[in-house]
Amino acid sequence: MTNPYQQAFETSLKDPVAFWGEAAQGIHWDKPWDKVLDDTHAPFYRWFVGAETNTCYNAVDRHVADGRGDQAAIIYDSPVSGTKRIITYTELQDQVSRLAGGLAGLGVTKGDRVLLYMPMIPEAVIGMLAAARLGAIHTVVFGGFAPSELATRINDAAPKVILSASCGIEGSRVLPYKPMLDQAIDLSAHKPGHTVIYQRPQAVADMKAGVDLDWTELTAASEPHACVTVKATDPLYILYTSGTTGQPKGVVRDNGGHMVALKWTMSAIYDIKPGEVFWAASDVGWVVGHSYICYAPLLHGATTVVYEGKPVGTPDAGAFWRMIAEYKVSALFTAPTAFRAIKREDPDAKLLQQYDLSSLRTLFLAGERSDPDTINWASSNLKVPVIDHWWQTETGWAIAANCMGLHQFPVKPGSPTKPVPGWGLEVLDESHQPCEPGKVGSLVVRLPLPPGALVTLWNADQRCHDSYYSEFPGYYKTADAGYIDEDGYAYVMARTDDIINVAGHRLSTGAMEEVLASHPDVAECAVIGVADQLKGQLPLGFVCLKAGVSKSHEQVIKEVVQLVRERIGPVAAFKTCTVVARLPKTRSGKILRGTMQKIADNQDFKMPATIDDPAILDEIEESLESVGYAKARKEAGQ
Ligand code: COA
Ligand code: AMP
Repeated sequence: MTNPYQQAFETSLKDPVAFWGEAAQGIHWDKPWDKVLDDTHAPFYRWFVGAETNTCYNAVDRHVADGRGDQAAIIYDSPVSGTKRIITYTELQDQVSRLAGGLAGLGVTKGDRVLLYMPMIPEAVIGMLAAARLGAIHTVVFGGFAPSELATRINDAAPKVILSASCGIEGSRVLPYKPMLDQAIDLSAHKPGHTVIYQRPQAVADMKAGVDLDWTELTAASEPHACVTVKATDPLYILYTSGTTGQPKGVVRDNGGHMVALKWTMSAIYDIKPGEVFWAASDVGWVVGHSYICYAPLLHGATTVVYEGKPVGTPDAGAFWRMIAEYKVSALFTAPTAFRAIKREDPDAKLLQQYDLSSLRTLFLAGERSDPDTINWASSNLKVPVIDHWWQTETGWAIAANCMGLHQFPVKPGSPTKPVPGWGLEVLDESHQPCEPGKVGSLVVRLPLPPGALVTLWNADQRCHDSYYSEFPGYYKTADAGYIDEDGYAYVMARTDDIINVAGHRLSTGAMEEVLASHPDVAECAVIGVADQLKGQLPLGFVCLKAGVSKSHEQVIKEVVQLVRERIGPVAAFKTCTVVARLPKTRSGKILRGTMQKIADNQDFKMPATIDDPAILDEIEESLESVGYAKARKEAGQ
C-alpha cells in the first residue's frame, strides 16, 4: 500500500502540472495562471506563467485580512543586546508598508534592486518584505562578509537603495557596519542613490547628509504603500552564493513558484500549522534565512523567530533551550555545527534539564552533513525526531528529507532520508549511466526542477547553463556526490567542486586561492577543506613563495591570513596556512588538492597515476604535521 509520501512523490514527478497546480491553491493570486509549467525554454523552466500576485501580500496582508492581525508574526530575541520584541501581523503590515512607502519615495519601483546588509534584527525581514511589496528585487548580503565581497555584490546587482544598520553584535563584540558599507560603496563602480540606516544604540553611525537616511525617520514620515502586483515569473530576490571562482553566483528566485513551494513545505516537510512557532536558527544572509526565517513561516501564517545570538556563549549552552521554552517553539531548524558547539560545552545536556521543552516536536538539521554522533546526542536528549535534510542555495528548499507531514520514515543517521516530492533525484556515474543502489556517483535532479528552485543566475544565463545543466543534459547537477541505498534513502557524501562547508556556511576555496595569489610574495598556492570537529570543515592554505623573499614564513602567513579576512571576511574562518617549497601536481599541472586533503584528514589514498613527483607528497605531509594535521598517519605507520 502506498503511503501519502509515496503517493505525493509519484504524482509530483508523473504529473507536476496537476501536483503544483493543486499546491498553488494555498496562495492568493491577483490573476490566475495561463499555464502551470512553461517548458518552451528548457532547461530554463518557468512556473505559473501568466499569473499575477504579490509575495508580501501573501506573507503579511492576507493574514491581517483573514483575522490573524493580533497573532505574533515575528518574535525577536537578542541576548546580545538585551532586547525582546513581539511584532504582530498588523504591526508588521504597518512597518513594512511604511518602509515600502519610504523606498517608493526614493524612487524604488518594480524591478529595481534593493540591497540589504543587516544583522539579525526584525528590520532585516521588514526590509525584504518592503522590497517585495514594491515588486523590487532584494539581495541580502551576510554581515560576516568583508567590504570587498559586499562591493562585488553591489556592482553586480546595481541596487538603487541599500538598507543597513549602524552595527551588528557578535557575542560581546559590537561591529560597526556603516564604515564597512561606506568602504564597499567606495570600492564599487556602481553607486546606490541612497542608503537607509537603522540606528542602533550600541554604535550610532555617522550619516552623510543627502545620501544616508535614518530608517526610523523615513518610516515615520512615509505613508503606507499598497502591494504592487507582479508577474509570478518576476524575480523576487537575488541571493549570492559561492561559486568556484571569486565571482559569486547570483541565484534568482521568482515570486509565484517560490511561494507555492515554500508554503507547501511548511506542512508537508515541517508539519507546522498556521499559528505555531517555527524557529530557523540561521541568518537572513543565507538561503535558510530567506526561506525559513522570512518567507515560508510568514506565507503559512506561522510565527517566525529572529534570534540575534549564538548557540553557546550568549550567555551559555542553554540559549536554544531557553528560547524553545520561552516561546513554545514547535520546530527548530539549525545546522549540525550549532549542536556540536552545544554538545562541546555541555556534553551531559545538564542545562537542557532546566527547561520545559514539551512544545518541541521536531529538530531539523541542514547546511552540512549531519554526523551520527550529533544526531544521536540531539535525539537522546531532546527526545524528539531529529530530521536531517539536504538542500542548497540554488534549490531554495529541501531536495531530500523525511517529510514529517506526509509520512515519517525511520531515521538512518547519515542520510537525509528520501527525495522530497518534486525532486527527481538520481545518481549517475561518469558515463552518465544510473548507479546501482549503494554506489557513489553524481547526485543529479531530472528536469524540470520544481517551483521555488533557481530560475537563473543574475545577468548570467550562460553561466547558469554551464554550471548546472550542461554536464548532464536533461538534469540539474547538484555538484554533490552521494548514493541512494536499496531502501531509497539518499546519502550526500561530498562536493564534487571546490566548495567547502564551514560551520554550515558555504565557501569557495577557489576564491580564497585568488586572495592568496594576490599577495606579492606568493608564487603559487592551494586551499583545501580539512575536517574539523566543531565546524565540519575548515580551510587550510599552502603557499609557495617567490624566489628572493626575505620575510620570515610566519610573517607571510600572518599577512595572507589577514588578507583573506579583509577581502572575504571573518566568515571564511581562514586561520591556518603553511609555506611549502612545491605543490603536488599531475604531469599536466593540475594541483592534487584531493590527495592533500586525504593526507591532512588521515585518510587512505591511492597514489595518483598521473602524479609528476611523488616525493612532494612527503613534503606536504611534513608541512601538514607542523600545523597539527596528518599526525595519525605517521602513528598508524601509513
Ligand atoms: N557578522 C559579522 N561577523 C560574523 C557574522 C556576522 N553576521 N557571523 C559570523 N561572523 C564572524 C564570527 O564572529 C567569527 O569571527 P572571528 O573569527 O573573529 O571569531 C567568524 O565570522 C566565523 O564565524 P563562525 O564560523 O560562525 O564561528 P563562530 O565561532 O562565531 O560560531 C557556531 C560557531 C557553530 C556557534 C556558529 O557558526 C553557528 O551557530 N552556526 C550554526 C547556525 C548557522 O549559522 N547556520 C547557517 C546555515 S543553516
Ligand atoms: P548552501 O548553498 O550554503 O546551502 O550549501 C549547500 C551545500 O551544503 C550542499 O551542496 C551540500 O554540499 C551541503 N549540505 C547542505 N545540507 C546538507 C545535508 N543535509 N547533508 C549533507 N550536505 C549538506
